[in-house]
Amino acid sequence: MTRRKLVVGNWKMNGLRAHLPQVAAIGAEASAHGAVEVGLCVPATLIGMANEARGGAFIGGQDCHVKATGAHTGCLSAEMLREAGATWVIVGHSERRADQGETDADVAGKALAGHAQGLKVILCVGESLEIRDSGEAVPFVLAQLEASLPEGAAAQWLSIAYEPVWCIGTGRIPTMEQIAEMHSAIRGALVKRIGEDGNAMRILYGGSVNAANAAEVFAVADVDGGLVGGASLKVDSFGPIIEAAAA
Ligand code: 13P
Repeated sequence: MTRRKLVVGNWKMNGLRAHLPQVAAIGAEASAHGAVEVGLCVPATLIGMANEARGGAFIGGQDCHVKATGAHTGCLSAEMLREAGATWVIVGHSERRADQGETDADVAGKALAGHAQGLKVILCVGESLEIRDSGEAVPFVLAQLEASLPEGAAAQWLSIAYEPVWCIGTGRIPTMEQIAEMHSAIRGALVKRIGEDGNAMRILYGGSVNAANAAEVFAVADVDGGLVGGASLKVDSFGPIIEAAAA
């Protein structure tokens, strides 16, 4: 099963008009490495402008509401993201699970809301350091995946990102054996749940991916790319990660 590598930058709450040249430069890197699918999930305020500068990269949002419209001050629907120019959306990022109290059921609903608008979806799962240290990381992540994965999930529109919380923004990454163990367990759970299509679904690793470790991480079995935070903000640090995925 060959799966096209997917490398996505999550800009989180970073990005102003002044950063559009970085979008353009990253878009040019994406064009130069067509074997890899490259995207940037930018703040919603930047989606429209980023879409004009995106080159070979796609533009995505970082969250969407479960509902299509309504009295939800400050929230954005999937249709709004799509109209602004997004073609992808991240759901269930650990920062939203922690900061906004999003549940697995919320995440499944958001994934379906994105899909209903034709957006491709990256669904995030991952354990805390406490759970990692307890030795329960694999069962915890599989339970989170099982409860967050929506009905009808398919590789054509949904990808998984395994992001251990203790590796996000910390400079730490798991051992390659730990990454392999988790990705293999996720693969098995996907095949069990959705059948053969689970072998086509991409599973990204996220958490302190950088130019120095990307090649090693991307070489691990069942790692189909990365979801990258800090290192995706500038082409100087994101470009080499794209190149590592293309190699
Ligand atoms: P860092 O790459 O900054 O650790 O962030 C990872 C992440 O949370 C991407 O969604």
